[in-house]
Amino acid sequence: TLGPKATSAGYKLAAFDQIGSTNAEAMVRARDGESGPTWFATTEQTAGRGRRQRAWVAPRGNLASSILEVMDVSPAVAATLGFAAGLSLESALQKLSIEANMRRAGTEPLQFALKWPNDVLAERQKLAGILLEAEAVAGNRLAVVVGIGTNVVAAPEGTPTPATSLAALGVQVGAEELFKALAEAWVEFRGIWDNGRGFGEIRKLWLERAFGVGERVAIQTGTTKVEGTFDTIDDTGCLIVRTADGRRMPITAGEVYFGTA
Ligand code: BTN
Repeated sequence: TLGPKATSAGYKLAAFDQIGSTNAEAMVRARDGESGPTWFATTEQTAGRGRRQRAWVAPRGNLASSILEVMDVSPAVAATLGFAAGLSLESALQKLSIEANMRRAGTEPLQFALKWPNDVLAERQKLAGILLEAEAVAGNRLAVVVGIGTNVVAAPEGTPTPATSLAALGVQVGAEELFKALAEAWVEFRGIWDNGRGFGEIRKLWLERAFGVGERVAIQTGTTKVEGTFDTIDDTGCLIVRTADGRRMPITAGEVYFGTA
């Protein structure tokens, strides 16, 4: 199991051996009046949700976790919290991979990167995904659930972006150890984000670790496809694509493919 009932900085912990979806559980509790901040975490998730209506099942040994925070922010501002979550996981992974490499003596640390909007890549393959959900609750506040799924022992097959796991990359780290590092890193980046006031700094840190800035991209948004160069992300978290005819196109949601002609 995932240890004591609390993580750092006043976050409660609801830990499960197995659950359908930590995001769903967090939202049900928020509707029941829970105001958090609370982590929901499990090492086996049977009916998890991914972005774009996809499933995210975590076989035993992977880490599925969600943060519930009830806040006075708009849904658009809340959405930028996903970038802080990506940074937190990347930072936790970096730390653990360096430690694991030290134990294995002398091997090169792994290369992690952030893929817009919220994926974490390791060696160019998808290692983790983030799903942010928000809903208005009593008192005109917003319940924000940031779900983070990390492939610790196993990765799904046949996904749009090839997936990998920490075990497949030779990092011998358990879900418990990863969760502890993630919860610590979250306190740091959530602090910088500061109810959206610090998104400028998060944006800067995110861009430093972003995959594919300046590269060719194709973005599939529903039935339309936009092609161009990945320029930057703006101060609302939109992906800015520069098209061949020089237009600057802000993308709010979509699936990003790199390296297309
Ligand atoms: C993606 O599609 O890349 C996002 C996947 C998000 C999965 C996590 S696992 C913990 C949380 N609970 C869920 O049901 N989904 C998220």
